[in-house]
This record gives sequence, C-alpha cells and structure tokens, in this order.
Amino acid sequence: MQIIFTKAALSKTGAVVIPSFVDGPSSSAFISINEETDGALERASKSAGFSGKKGQILEIVAPGGVGFGRIVLVGAGKTQNFTLLDAETLGGSALAKVMRTREKTLLFALDGFSAPGMDNADLAARIAFGARLRSYQFDKYRTKLEKDQKPALTKISIHTPSSAAKSAYATLDYICNGVFLTRDLVSEPANILFPESFAQRCRELESLGVRVKVLGVEEMKKLGMHALLGVGQGSANESRVVAMEWMGGKKNDAPVCFVGKGVTFDSGGISLKPGPGMWDMKWDMGGAGAVTGALMALAGRKAKANVVGIIGLVENMPDGNAQRPGDIVTSMSGQTIEVLNTDAEGRLVLADILWWAQEVYKPKTMIDLATLTGAIIVALANEFGGLFANNETLAGQLLEAGEASGDLLWRMPLTKAFDEMIKSDVADMKNIGGKEGPSSSAAAFLARFVKPGVAWAHLDIAGKAWTDKDQSPTPKGATGYGVRLLNEFVRATLEK
Ligand code: BES
Ligand code: MN
Ligand code: ZN
Repeated sequence: MQIIFTKAALSKTGAVVIPSFVDGPSSSAFISINEETDGALERASKSAGFSGKKGQILEIVAPGGVGFGRIVLVGAGKTQNFTLLDAETLGGSALAKVMRTREKTLLFALDGFSAPGMDNADLAARIAFGARLRSYQFDKYRTKLEKDQKPALTKISIHTPSSAAKSAYATLDYICNGVFLTRDLVSEPANILFPESFAQRCRELESLGVRVKVLGVEEMKKLGMHALLGVGQGSANESRVVAMEWMGGKKNDAPVCFVGKGVTFDSGGISLKPGPGMWDMKWDMGGAGAVTGALMALAGRKAKANVVGIIGLVENMPDGNAQRPGDIVTSMSGQTIEVLNTDAEGRLVLADILWWAQEVYKPKTMIDLATLTGAIIVALANEFGGLFANNETLAGQLLEAGEASGDLLWRMPLTKAFDEMIKSDVADMKNIGGKEGPSSSAAAFLARFVKPGVAWAHLDIAGKAWTDKDQSPTPKGATGYGVRLLNEFVRATLEK
C-alpha cells in the first residue's frame, strides 16, 4: 500500500474519507462537496442520522459531477475526548470500508479537521498509521483468488495542511513494518515456520544493522540448556536459540533484553492436546514473533537504545524420543525440573533462555513475552495481556506503554503463595502448579530463573497474539501484539 502526504488541491477520484467531530467545524472537503451538490451531503447525513459520533461511519455513492466515486463520512466524537489511538481506529475503520469496494485510491480529507491541543501532524500521521495497519492481509497461500476478490485499493493519500505530517509518519511506518513482520511470522503454518526457518527469517534483520546470532543443538547441549532441549527432542525439527542485538544507544549501557517464547507448534507433546483447535498452536511462537518484530521496528527507526531480542525456538511433538511426564531435566541454571506435564513447555523453554540472556548480556531489565497459559484468556479475555513483574517501576512503565500504544496490559499477582505451588518431591521444582491460579504459578516458575537485582516482567500474551474478529486497526488473524508496546516502552524509558 502506497501512502502519500499532500497539500495540493484535491485530486477528485476514488474514495474520499471525511472525518468530523460532533462539536467541531465542518471540514473544508465537506463544505465544498456539499456546495457543489446543492446540499446533498448534508441531506444524506441527516437522513442517515450521521452526527459525527465516535464510530459512526456513512458511505455514500457520490452524486454525479463530484468527481469522487465514494464519500465516506466518519464520526470522531467530541474533540476533547479524542486521542491519537482514536485517530488510528478512525483511519483503520475508514480503510476497511473502502477495501470492501472496488475503489483504487483513498483520500483522507483532513483540511479543517483538528482537535484543540492535538498536533495536526501527529493526528494525520496516526490516521495514516491506522489505515496501513488495517490494510494487512495474509493471502500468500490463496492461489485461486480471482482478481476481483483481491482488494483494488493500492494508494492512500493524506490531504493535510500540516507539512510535518510526513516526517511524523515516517517513524510510524517503521513500527508498522515490525507489526507486519510479526503478523507474517505468527500467520505462517508450522510446516513452513519451524525453528530453523524462523532463525533464517531473523537473519533478514541483518540488513537493518541488527547482529544476529543463532545457537544450534550442539552449542545448547554444551551450555546445558536441557530444559529447552527436552521440549524439542520429540520433534524432527531441531531447536534453535536466536539473539538479535540492536546497539543504538550508549556504548557502555547494559542492554534491555526482550525474551520470547517461540514454540513453532505446540501439540502438547506426550501430554497431547485435544484435536479440535490444536491448529491454533501454530501461533504458540507469538512471543518470539513480537520480539522479532519489535527489533525490526527499533532498528528500522534507528532507536537510540541498546536492546537484545532473544527467542527460544522449539517444536513440541510426541515421537518415540519425546520427553515423558515424570522426566527430570537439569536447566542451564543448574536447577532441576520435574516435567509432570509436557504441555507446560513454554516455561521450560523460557527458563533456559532467560538464564542465558542474563549470563551473556547482564541486563538490568528483562521482559519476556509468551503465549504461556490458556488460563490468562479465562481471566482477561482477549482484552489485555497479563503483566507479572518483580519491580514496581517496570510494571508502571509497561502499563503506561500499554495505554499509549493500545497494546493493553493488566497487572496480575505474583506472590510467594504461587511459588509454593511448584514445589516438587523429587526435584527443585515441578513444571505445573495446580488448577488454582495457573497463570501466576507459571510466572512464579519463570521467576526462579531471574537473578537477584534484575528488574523483570513477564507478559502472558496467549489472549492477544491472535484475534478471531476484525478490529480496528487490527484485522482478524495475527495481531502483531507487543511490537507497539515494546517500541513505546523503549521510546519512553530508554530514549528520554
Ligand atoms: N501454548 C499453551 C497455552 C495457550 C493456550 C496459548 C491457548 C494460547 C491459547 C501452553 O503451552 C499450554 O499448553 N499451557 C497449558 C499449561 C498447563 C498444562 C499447566 C494450559 O494453559 O493449559
Ligand atoms: Mn503447551
Ligand atoms: Zn505452548
């Protein structure tokens, strides 16, 4: 999708989107088209009950002589309640409306659309961002789509008087690239995206100046990563660990580590999952996908920060060599784990890469993202990622980054009681607690692999990596959750 910013007179073809506030002045495009049509636009909005309320959207086939094929009026609500996230939603909803038509171009007419206290450049940039985010489609495997089933829309123009809008958007475009990479990775089926091919995709970030290191099975054995290797041993696809280093900050600043669960398929292993719905487990690498996309965004926009993304890539399968319930493994940290359920595999993977991250990079701050428990979806639906943290400042920063980016988080408890639940009779710990508070006992398990003094947060994103319904600015499927969150966290806390 091509996106351009223009101040020139409107070129009157394709679809035009005209946003308006309930309490704001009419935009100049509304006024001029209304005049040209002897008040037809006003009559059309009256008869449809369009008043500019937030979320209202009215599509009109343009009367002859106007030039445009379609006019889309979108409501923005009251000026004082309007946020930049609302601007993204607005851009996304309008885009979705037009994508369903055969129009080839879309023009956002923003002259005269402004809210007091909101920068016009940011407003225009965020509308464009929302539109591009919403335009994502994963159709590379749909070989039989007829031409008329594919969207005709190829170009978005933003008509704004603000000359700064284009450069405000440039940063957002890099973030969008990161979100799209995450969505691509999460959408890929597990026969295409397995540990080795995932690692290969990470190598593509080298062209942006990211240093990419890949650990193979032999190296992991030498390092003693038997918790991670145990998960992958029942698969024909070898495990990998990938580190992606973006050192855009001060030379001697310790990096922040982003750590991602990358189970490219989670069958459950010998503790096999039920068949129906098992296909969802192709996106059990959503944490690793988010970390990879975030690194792409940060490197793309040349963030002034030191960040390392570390992902553990394994396939959890049940063959004759697979790990059994009851097996005891020794993690890289030296702590032993009784594996009572081979389907609680994400924490085993994270245990070793959290430890490795701290040994190699000595971070002061470490954030892991993982589609770790189904129970977090029971608790938070698909509305929030679950936030577990050992540090109040870090928790606060992440909650704020969530509010600002739209990748929402909700704090969950992580107290001693949950640590008690994973005591084992035969090893240092077991890999499942009970049926009470399973998301928190999973977090308590991870906490045992965090060294003293490291500020750490665990984000359980099982409810956020994928959506079954279209949302704005996120179409159904892989969401790219986490990229905007991590990017905003870096911007607000490391690039001050
Ligand atoms: N990958 C799953 C969690 C999951 C479930 C993610 C649904 C996305 C949607 C994880 O590996 C898992 O199987 N967790 C178990 C843990 C249990 C065995 C303690 C779960 O949540 O049931
Ligand atoms: Mn599992
Ligand atoms: Zn899993």
